Amino acid sequence: MVIFVARHLFQPIDPGTPRPLRFEFDGAEITARRNDTVLAAVLASRERCGVNEFDGGGRAGFCLMGSCQECTMWDEDGRRLRGCMTEAREGLRLRSRPHCGSD
Ligand code: FES
Repeated sequence: MVIFVARHLFQPIDPGTPRPLRFEFDGAEITARRNDTVLAAVLASRERCGVNEFDGGGRAGFCLMGSCQECTMWDEDGRRLRGCMTEAREGLRLRSRPHCGSD
C-alpha cells in the first residue's frame, strides 16, 4: 500500500509556474507567484502560518476570505494583517507573532 502525504498544505496547480517574488516570513525566504496571497505562498512552503495562542497548535488559515483571523500575521512595523487578504509583494518582512521589542 502506498500512502501519499503532502509535504505542504497548499499544492500549486501548475508547479512549473515561476515564483519571482521573494519575501521573508519568520526570517525564512518565501517565494511567490504574481497574484498569490501571502498565506498561499507561505503554505506552499510550510505547514503552518502561526501558532494558536490558546493550545499551541498550528494555524494555517481557515476561511480564506478574511473572516476567521486564523491567518493573522504582522509586518515589520507591527501592523496586523490577514495573510489570506494580502497580496504577496517583493521584499515584505512578515512574522507569525507580534514584535515584542526584544527580537
Ligand atoms: S484564513 Fe480566515 S481570515 Fe484569513
